[in-house]
Amino acid sequence: MREIVLLIGGGGREHAIARSLADSEVDLYACAGNRNPGIARLASGFETLETTEPEAVVEYAESIDATIAVVGPEAPLAAGVVDELEAAGIYAFGPKRADARIETDKAFQRRFMAEHGIPGCPDFETFDHPEAACEFIDEYEGELAIKPAGLTGGKGVKVIGDQVTAEEGKAYIRESEYDRIVLEERLIGEEFTVQAFVANGAVRTAPAVQDHKRAFEGDEGPNTGGMGSYSDATRELPFMTGDDYERAVEIVEATVEALDGYKGILYGQFMLTADGPKVIEFNARFGDPEAMNTLPTLETEFLDVLVAARDGEPLPELSFAERATVCKYAVPEGYPTEPEAGAKVQVDEESAGDALLFYASVDERDDGIYTTTSRSFALVGVADTISKAETIAEDALTVAGEEGLHVRHDIGKPALVQRRIDHMAELRGD
Ligand code: AMP
Ligand code: GLY
Repeated sequence: MREIVLLIGGGGREHAIARSLADSEVDLYACAGNRNPGIARLASGFETLETTEPEAVVEYAESIDATIAVVGPEAPLAAGVVDELEAAGIYAFGPKRADARIETDKAFQRRFMAEHGIPGCPDFETFDHPEAACEFIDEYEGELAIKPAGLTGGKGVKVIGDQVTAEEGKAYIRESEYDRIVLEERLIGEEFTVQAFVANGAVRTAPAVQDHKRAFEGDEGPNTGGMGSYSDATRELPFMTGDDYERAVEIVEATVEALDGYKGILYGQFMLTADGPKVIEFNARFGDPEAMNTLPTLETEFLDVLVAARDGEPLPELSFAERATVCKYAVPEGYPTEPEAGAKVQVDEESAGDALLFYASVDERDDGIYTTTSRSFALVGVADTISKAETIAEDALTVAGEEGLHVRHDIGKPALVQRRIDHMAELRGD
């Protein structure tokens, strides 16, 4: 039987999912709030709808006789889209709303780790009142990360000693209207992501990726959804050992076991500290941009993973090409604080040359493709070294031009990768 897959979501991550399914024996359909031209070209049908309205998604899924649904972003997971699809008898690869709390509620996430004795949990406290959190900041010896408990698109966290002073941190808590706050020890080290494909008790992990959250070169400026990312031809990154990677995998596996029945992608965001990997957060989906590093090197058919997951069978072992990847996002000028939409995108899949082009939040009009106020498109180089992959991404960015756009050119360049290696060596006292 030919599978009919409905992909939910219209960003760069979902374009990467669509491309990883496009070569399989599948009829692909997609729905999203924006019309992603890259996905639309690969799909037999594309519906623009509100993906946080479960009824609308179920109605579309039924109209195409979907046999499998894949949920890309967190917002539909939080809205219970998986629960409603399954109530309608359609298998969805993604956690139900209750399991997605591992991402959508950071207070729950920390308590869950503590209750189940999952290694790698930083010291933390959760608060329901801003003043209690401010008092804790005054009394705590050391620096803290301030985290709203709910979803903020990766932009709500403020780290004392890094982005803000203690006084600015308290002002941020008092001014913002977050009802619940997590305070936790500031972790120092290098960040990396391990994504796992999870179903039927099996956990299959992908190579580590490093994202770059800060808007400007040299890791300056506000946090963003992620400006770009790289992975190496090995499972670990140049600043890590194989043992660091394994310890992160063990944390992901322990979390899946404690979650009991989780399915979908579990994304572990880690800080590699002098004492090994600690958990910054879990996400209940692929990373964006990290999916664009991981899926292009996945040699196992993603469709086979989805079918095994649905049919209650053990997931296939995953094989990844021994290739490095570098992903760079072009974002609208002023992103994330004062983004200016409306620049015309000057690159397409052909002119991107050897790089892979993934469209994100763009708007396709009669006379071309235009930027909106969120991340616009990503260019990904794949090669046998990080440095060669970086060059491929940069060559395509030259074609794209930078009118109305901003790019972090430092991502994946030898100087920045070396800085990561030196930072870890210094922390470890080597
Ligand atoms: P999150 O939304 O949890 O991914 O956090 C956004 C960013 O804030 C992370 O990518 C880190 O750079 C930073 N961050 C979060 N928690 C901590 C922590 N405990 N210590 C240091 N930095 C943190
Ligand atoms: N790259 C960070 C995220 O997807 O949350």
